[in-house]
Amino acid sequence: MRQADKRERPIGVFDSGIGGLTVAKAIKAHLPEEQLIYFGDTAHLPYGDKSTAAIQAYSVKICDLLIRQNCKIILIACNSASAAAYELVREYVGSKAHVLNVIDPVVAHVADRYAGKTVGLIGTKQTVNSNVYKKKIDALDQGIELRSLATPLLAPMIEEGFFNNTISESVIQTYLSDPTLENIEALILGCTHYPLIKEQIARFYQGRVEVLDASELVARHVGKVLTQLEIAAERLKGAPHFYVSDYTASFEASTQLFFHQKVNLEHYPLWE
Ligand code: DGL
Repeated sequence: MRQADKRERPIGVFDSGIGGLTVAKAIKAHLPEEQLIYFGDTAHLPYGDKSTAAIQAYSVKICDLLIRQNCKIILIACNSASAAAYELVREYVGSKAHVLNVIDPVVAHVADRYAGKTVGLIGTKQTVNSNVYKKKIDALDQGIELRSLATPLLAPMIEEGFFNNTISESVIQTYLSDPTLENIEALILGCTHYPLIKEQIARFYQGRVEVLDASELVARHVGKVLTQLEIAAERLKGAPHFYVSDYTASFEASTQLFFHQKVNLEHYPLWE
């Protein structure tokens, strides 16, 4: 395929639900010429409590669609799926698209900024139990101590639109007061849903801990890859397109909230 044709192809982004929209929004702001195709697997949410095999099966099915949509890049905008399925998806997709995850850019940033320090991580059970962050951080050998805590109530709570109220406040406070997270200097938000409660988390720490939101780092990484591969779009080809595996009004409302425009939400069941 000619490089010029490749440049015009969209970027595919997927997550279990609205979480990946935090990343999609950052990409849109950073790379306004790129056309996005977003898939929210709302039928199978939350991913964080599912088995590795189930997440792999969903991810492969979603990639089939994104490949058919001719995506040049497939970004797994979900930590749980990045942990469970990145290697497999990369092999499955092969040379049809360039596959990226949301973990590597954060690990690179942490290794660069927090050598010899103690860093916390919150994420789903899948992400935390996979130990993927710890393995990747340890491999860079910067003397970083990573303290990880699974916070399984957060993604479903956010998906329900529960942030900035007394219930979310108390769930967040209970998790962040866990002794595992004592004496950390930075906290990785290891789930793409969590930037939506970043303010509440930052308020809890009152400036003592840097709260690391992956979306900016991931968007910049996508930009770098596009430049390296010489496949960055030169002009915007079309509006973002959103697919969901199960139509929910809350997803439609969140999508519009994120993109400040009426969105075209298409129902696409992964299995008929
Ligand atoms: N947003 C996802 C993540 O980054 C998944 C949350 C979930 O579906 O459990 O892990």
